[in-house]
Amino acid sequence: NPSNFQMGENSMLEQAECRAKGGAPGFKVAILGAAGGIGQSLAMLMKMNPLVSVLHLYDVVNAHGVTADISHMDTGAVVRGFLGQPQLEDALVGMDLVVIPAGVPRKPGMTRDDLFKINAGIVRTLCEGIAKCCPNAIVNLISNPVNSTVPIAAEVFKKAGTYDPKRLLGVTMLDVVRANTFVAEVLGLDPREVSVPVVGGHAGVTILPLLSQVKPPCSFTSEECEYLTKRIQDGGTEVVQAKAGAGSATLSMAYAAVKFADACLRGLRGDANIVECAFVASQVTELPFFATRVRLGRTGAEEIFQLGPMNEYERAGLVEAKKELIASIEKGASFISK
Ligand code: NAI
Repeated sequence: NPSNFQMGENSMLEQAECRAKGGAPGFKVAILGAAGGIGQSLAMLMKMNPLVSVLHLYDVVNAHGVTADISHMDTGAVVRGFLGQPQLEDALVGMDLVVIPAGVPRKPGMTRDDLFKINAGIVRTLCEGIAKCCPNAIVNLISNPVNSTVPIAAEVFKKAGTYDPKRLLGVTMLDVVRANTFVAEVLGLDPREVSVPVVGGHAGVTILPLLSQVKPPCSFTSEECEYLTKRIQDGGTEVVQAKAGAGSATLSMAYAAVKFADACLRGLRGDANIVECAFVASQVTELPFFATRVRLGRTGAEEIFQLGPMNEYERAGLVEAKKELIASIEKGASFISK
């Protein structure tokens, strides 16, 4: 019975809000595109996160099915579902963090840029809703091509007069997660002990792992550098090909998205020294957006770190990355200003 379900849901929501007010850390998180391949796993993992008190799941299909399913998990967060454009605003009001995996994924033979036409419009609509209903929320943008969708979001927020560059973060965490895994494999280490900065953007040659800055300190042969850089850059394509038409990375992406969202929430809570890579508005290079390590705090990306010392191979990679990145950024920005 939908009305009983609704009543139960509302009183649970109130309880969760009381819990949050009572001093327990509790943030309100919305996932837009929550019924998709990434969205469903992401929703499940966010429901397990003790920092989340309220979880809003929005999609244009199947949002209530996913919500009913996830709401049975006996964890703290209260889950509410929102279906279709008329419910977008209700999904967004009061949110502290909005995670966006809405849009179409790649099929074999497609680049991330091939997704532009469809995903650009989706991201615009969702960001217009954010500007109206939760302009102070931190936004984690996953929808591809990230190199263009982040500039699109920035232009939408500028038009609405709500743009705060610190709060808009393109999610490149999967590149870092892959880099940690592949580097650990080569070094024979536990991936949890490895930290690889990945800078630039989130597509092909714009993904620039800085293998000279890996922690713990280590060295690679030039063959290893070449192998690792290419594998990290092509990690997404490896999955697209293996799935053979059934989409792109969803499970590892949901894991990476939750790792990143959790870092954002710990930053919001005021934890010190939360540092992750993200694609943000930046003055580290001459480009208006660039992925680097950033320190996450109460207001978003509060500090943006410089690239640090790079070797010759990385400097050459940076030149290539910037060439492609500038075109993708301009394509995104001009989609809105047109
Ligand atoms: P999917 O097709 O399985 O799910 C996308 C979901 O978005 C669907 O449930 C769909 O109904 C929903 N959607 C479509 N239009 C919408 C709208 N206007 N409002 C709300 N929801 C809407 O795709 P998947 O595999 O989950 O990928 C989602 C996006 O994430 C793709 O653009 C993909 O390229 C990107 N991605 C990004 C990665 C990154 O590292 N940043 C890694 C992997 C994928």
